[in-house]
Amino acid sequence: MKHRWPLPDGREVDLDYFVNWRPYLWRDPIARALRFLGNLRGKRILEIGGNDGRMTSLFALLGADVAMLDTVDLGPSVAEVAQWGVGDRVRLIRTDGGFNEVRGETFDAVFTKSVLWGVERLAEFLDQIEAHLADGGKVAFVENVRGGRLEFWLRRNIIHRGRFDWEDHYYGITPSQIDLFRERFADLNVRRHRHFVYEIFGRKGFRRKVDLLIREFTFGPIRDVVAPLLAELDRD
Ligand SMILES: C[S@@+](CC[C@H](N)C(=O)[O-])C[C@H]1O[C@@H](n2cnc3c(N)ncnc32)[C@H](O)[C@@H]1O
Repeated sequence: MKHRWPLPDGREVDLDYFVNWRPYLWRDPIARALRFLGNLRGKRILEIGGNDGRMTSLFALLGADVAMLDTVDLGPSVAEVAQWGVGDRVRLIRTDGGFNEVRGETFDAVFTKSVLWGVERLAEFLDQIEAHLADGGKVAFVENVRGGRLEFWLRRNIIHRGRFDWEDHYYGITPSQIDLFRERFADLNVRRHRHFVYEIFGRKGFRRKVDLLIREFTFGPIRDVVAPLLAELDRD
């Protein structure tokens, strides 16, 4: 076993198995995301874009109740979850890319790994994530960095070794998009890991609700005074 990760029942699993691809690049961000999410026993997690269900299975092994949304065929994730015997704590849900299937539900944490970079209407998508976060809930996004020419060259010639023929459609998260996260989540902690991976961790703040209320119900000078005061209060 290469990178042991402890389970609440005393067993250990290999984190690299759940990281799945390019663990040398993604392992550390995923480990930090897991530490940030903390004790998952009894917590309700929404994983978006869980694909083959490996991270979803790990969350369930760590004691969480997981809802996993993806647009792909769920066959592989059904098999993965069954292999770990955690089917009773996992809901695998095929979506059309939206949140209809979990409408009205809130979660203690929302997690993505290499998903948001491909979402074209990111602001609206993050609004949905925020709306599905319970009070005090956390978000942990581990995402591709879009990068510039150097990153494209490295991806095409080294990392993906010639299989990277879709760069026109490669969106990736840009530094300017980080503001979209900052506007929606409190205590945003952003780290760029080895150039290619963003770790974006945050939590539900009351700031966004307050911002919306201020916009709706205040005007002119009152807004200018109240908004910064409340923003200050929202800091830890
Ligand atoms: C690059 S794969 C990453 C899969 C997995 N998270 C991993 O890291 O191994 C992106 C996944 O996100 C899913 N996805 C993309 N947009 C989505 C959306 N709007 N809702 C749910 N899943 C989505 C894709 O179907 C795909 O399974």
